[in-house]
Amino acid sequence: MHKDLERILFTEEQIRERVVALGKQITADYDGKEIVAVGILKGAIVFFADLVREIKLPVKFDFMAASSYGASTKTSGTVRILKDIDTDIENKHVIIVEDIIDSGLTLKYLKENFEHRKAASVKLCAMLNKPEGRRTDIKGDYIGFDVPDEFIVGYGLDYASTYRNIPYIGILKKSVYA
Ligand code: PRP
Ligand code: MN
Ligand code: MG
Repeated sequence: MHKDLERILFTEEQIRERVVALGKQITADYDGKEIVAVGILKGAIVFFADLVREIKLPVKFDFMAASSYGASTKTSGTVRILKDIDTDIENKHVIIVEDIIDSGLTLKYLKENFEHRKAASVKLCAMLNKPEGRRTDIKGDYIGFDVPDEFIVGYGLDYASTYRNIPYIGILKKSVYA
């Protein structure tokens, strides 16, 4: 285990199993449709790459960069769009792919933004969900795992840009950021 982790929540094997199941579910739900998968940089990148390969339908990729945490463990409350998608999503079936839904501020902002662009449908898929962090009415449509109210890193999730490449998911030691 990485020295800065307090404990592992999900191993590579557990993650793999969940991602395969999510891919199967999405494949069944979108039968006959084309999907535009929009990954939210940077945290979603690892999950995105694994998920899209488990969806056995045509999937177009696009990316948006949004950030609200910066180098803090608490949300700033302001979602900054640092890069927009370049796909015209009007009448398209969009799945927003995220690493985690915490307060829900990022996804609430992005979902409304996409609906204004007249997508045929907009659904949210997140590897992790932290119900105790929620400050909005946002709910994920496809969720990998629920996590406790701790600071989580690995599998794309960072603290101050570090730990994203840890291949499993764990709780960061408080001593690292206290
Ligand atoms: C994190 C995470 C989600 C969002 C979830 O992104 O990747 O995008 O926060 O939190 P919320 O539900 O409270 O909005 P972050 O702002 O850290 O940017 P990053 O993906 O580049 O790390
Ligand atoms: Mn993010
Ligand atoms: Mg982050």
